[in-house]
Amino acid sequence: MAPPSGCSLLVIGALGVFALDCFARAQKNSTLIFTKENTIRKCSCSADIRDCDYSLANLMCSCKTVLPFAVEQTSYNDHLTIWFTDTSALGLLLNFTLVRDLKLSLCSTNVLPTEYLAICGLKRLRISTEAKHPSPEQSLLIHDGGERESREKPVLLHQGWQTCMYISFLDMALFNRESSLKSYSIANSASMASNFPYFSYFKTFPILSNKSYVVTFIY
Ligand SMILES: *[C@@H]1O[C@H](CO)[C@@H](O)[C@H](O)[C@H]1NC(C)=O
Ligand SMILES: *[C@@H]1O[C@H](CO)[C@@H](O)[C@H](O)[C@H]1NC(C)=O
Ligand SMILES: *[C@@H]1O[C@H](CO)[C@@H](O)[C@H](O)[C@H]1NC(C)=O
Repeated sequence: MAPPSGCSLLVIGALGVFALDCFARAQKNSTLIFTKENTIRKCSCSADIRDCDYSLANLMCSCKTVLPFAVEQTSYNDHLTIWFTDTSALGLLLNFTLVRDLKLSLCSTNVLPTEYLAICGLKRLRISTEAKHPSPEQSLLIHDGGERESREKPVLLHQGWQTCMYISFLDMALFNRESSLKSYSIANSASMASNFPYFSYFKTFPILSNKSYVVTFIY
């Protein structure tokens, strides 16, 4: 016996509302920051913009120019995309910030020196070097946090790093290479000095004490 059609309509109706609700939530804007000729533009975009297409971003997103020293935001909870041309601008924007989902696109052919960028709480990193050598975007899943992550509160620049449990160091020179992204993690940084010969370099970072962090090197 077929169910009364009014009932199935109701079910379809409820599913429709559910689907619409999901759709509305998926429509959340993402943040795009780009640097070009000493200007920093911060945009809120509802659509994905092709990498390094500055004019399209200005057209499609809601963008404003920010002063270099006014960008000291310390955490980004959604996807963050940054188009950059050199390490100094990127360091200014990202060094010692909390970012969970990050995409970095190098929009120049500049050779980047080995210099490390420290990021707290990074879960997923995507990189693109389209302007330098055409290769598909690469993606790296660093950790999937689980419940530990909920303790990772937005941090204050530098001094808030005591609360950061996942620290990623990105070697900027990785953008020069055509090889694939690699990473390795050390779960207990307290024993790093003996386990990791280059560790002395990272002691110059103001954040590492003898506390246990999960430290990930991305290169
Ligand atoms: C979302 O992005 C669109 C442009 O893509 C912009 O017009 C709108 O103001 C943004 N919404 C928010 C909440 O930022
Ligand atoms: C990030 O800050 C550290 C410590 O001040 C510095 O050594 C490093 O070069 C900076 N990285 C970038 C990409 O600016
Ligand atoms: C961590 O460092 C503090 C002060 O720098 C020291 O008192 C403490 O003994 C150290 N703990 C370990 C496990 O090394």
